[in-house]
Amino acid sequence: MCGIIGSVGRGRETLGVLVRGLSNLEYRGYDSAGVAVSDASLSVCKRSGELDALKEALQGKTLEGNAGIGHTRWSTHGPPTDANAHPHTDCTGEVAVVHNGIIENYEVLREELEGAGHTFESETDTEVVPHLIEDLRAEGMDFETAFRKAVSRLEGSYAIAAVIEESETIFAARNDSPLVLGVGEGATYLGSDVPAFLDFTDRVVYLDDGEVARLSPDGWAVTNLVGERIEKDVETVDWEPEDTGKGGYDHYMLKEIHEQPQALRQCLQERVDELSGAIDLGDDLQQTVRGAEFIQLVACGTSYHAALYAAQLFRSQGVPAQAFVASEYVTAPPPYSEDTLVIGITQSGETADTLSALREAQRRGVETLAVTNVVGSTASRECADALYIRSGPEIGVAATKTFSAQVVAANLVAAVLEDRGTHHDFASALRDLPSQVQEVLDETNAETVAERFVDSEAFFFIGRGYDYPVALEGALKMKEITYEHAEGFAAGELKHGPLALVTSETPVFAVVTGETGSKKTVGNVKEVEARSAPVVAVTDGRTDVGRYADEVLEVPETDSRLAPVLANVQLQLVSYYVAERLGRNIDKPRNLAKSVTVE
Ligand code: F6R
Repeated sequence: MCGIIGSVGRGRETLGVLVRGLSNLEYRGYDSAGVAVSDASLSVCKRSGELDALKEALQGKTLEGNAGIGHTRWSTHGPPTDANAHPHTDCTGEVAVVHNGIIENYEVLREELEGAGHTFESETDTEVVPHLIEDLRAEGMDFETAFRKAVSRLEGSYAIAAVIEESETIFAARNDSPLVLGVGEGATYLGSDVPAFLDFTDRVVYLDDGEVARLSPDGWAVTNLVGERIEKDVETVDWEPEDTGKGGYDHYMLKEIHEQPQALRQCLQERVDELSGAIDLGDDLQQTVRGAEFIQLVACGTSYHAALYAAQLFRSQGVPAQAFVASEYVTAPPPYSEDTLVIGITQSGETADTLSALREAQRRGVETLAVTNVVGSTASRECADALYIRSGPEIGVAATKTFSAQVVAANLVAAVLEDRGTHHDFASALRDLPSQVQEVLDETNAETVAERFVDSEAFFFIGRGYDYPVALEGALKMKEITYEHAEGFAAGELKHGPLALVTSETPVFAVVTGETGSKKTVGNVKEVEARSAPVVAVTDGRTDVGRYADEVLEVPETDSRLAPVLANVQLQLVSYYVAERLGRNIDKPRNLAKSVTVE
């Protein structure tokens, strides 16, 4: 989820272009930035912190040259420090590289390179790339051949760009991570996405996996990894520069909803073995998790719904687990034993109530684990262990992609808890989940549903088992961004009181997925229908709930434990479109803040 910009062209102010490109990417909320410009020598400048820190460091410096690359980083490996910021260089400082994605075999490569005498400055996976290029150039290869050979050795996902000193050429390659060329007058640009260079050109060439691009002042060319030429179309994008912050979407929330497939891939990467299905969260974390006889989860808001889901998941494996609203945990701390593990689920890692609950646990001498999105956040620093959900920055106040990633992270922890060793079926269900989310995004009829019910008096959400936290989350999303009355209930509870609220003006969204108890939820839906309330079924088609529904939001069939993620995406979209029709301030709903740092 980092950002890349590159620029090649004679007689232009390369550094200015790079900094402008980084500003266009900074809406993502990055934690470090850097540039490298090639002339007779290679000049590199990078800083942790926001882009302003880099701009300050560049004051008074003249980084001149016709080719340059820049990067804004969102930490996934190693904290946000100057050393971990990109670009990374080789031992001689002749090659500079920027990278988005995860190089899965970097440990093997690093060991090999260290054995050959290379010294490393950072904790990143990226740094192996300039050293590989250096090594290959030492064997007599030119820059282009060395770049191709180095890239061929990488496993994982990457969008990579490299420059070397005394050259006016940038080489770039991609696999599973976006990269696009911008074709300007007398200049060529490179970006992780179009907004990076939209100020300079709207003519673009989208690179595909396995392609290598060569950018020079004379133009650009695309080849495959063995150097065979590939013809590419130049397309014109109809975006205006002012659209760029949201990547072409009207709101960050919608953009982040659409980023979910990528966010989930990032969360799973390196953690689930493709072949054996084994799940690996690292020895320390696994030891902590396996040592737990009891688990208490503390969280707030959306993260609390993920905690409720996780508690049920852990209980299904025989581990006593309970989710607590963090502020209540502090007010009335539950009993604990020395084998208790307290897990704080917090996107930001800065929520005061959650931190306070974790501190309460630490005060009692209990082991703590943070499940968070932000590397270096307070929760990650204060807890004994941290599991990063790797969603990339979430700017919209309403949490979307981070909820999905928290649920997936809970499944990874559960797999470790269960210690099944190999998990073929489950691993393949997890692997398919990002593309199933994409399927939901591509085929959803949420907008039609929103249009039909936008003028309702209230919205109710019901679900049972794993669908129950999704019902709560559906209601929270609806109320926070539409300002309309919405409530979520356990499906079985409806008849114990809330049914009195149900009328023909109050649609009931019934989440009915998986196997556990969903037939009973169909019974609850019939009760609602008999009281003439409109029903929207969110279903994977395993029951006949659709027969009793006025609208159906379908999700693909998957493992029962993962279906709630898909159902939730549908509900996120319905809330979004209702809020949009009501003209609400979707990204910054009234009275709310992204990170609540007071108790
Ligand atoms: C709702 C929402 C909030 C947060 C809550 C906890 O969309 O975003 O309910 O989930 O404030 O925040 P984190 O996860 O940062 O601890």
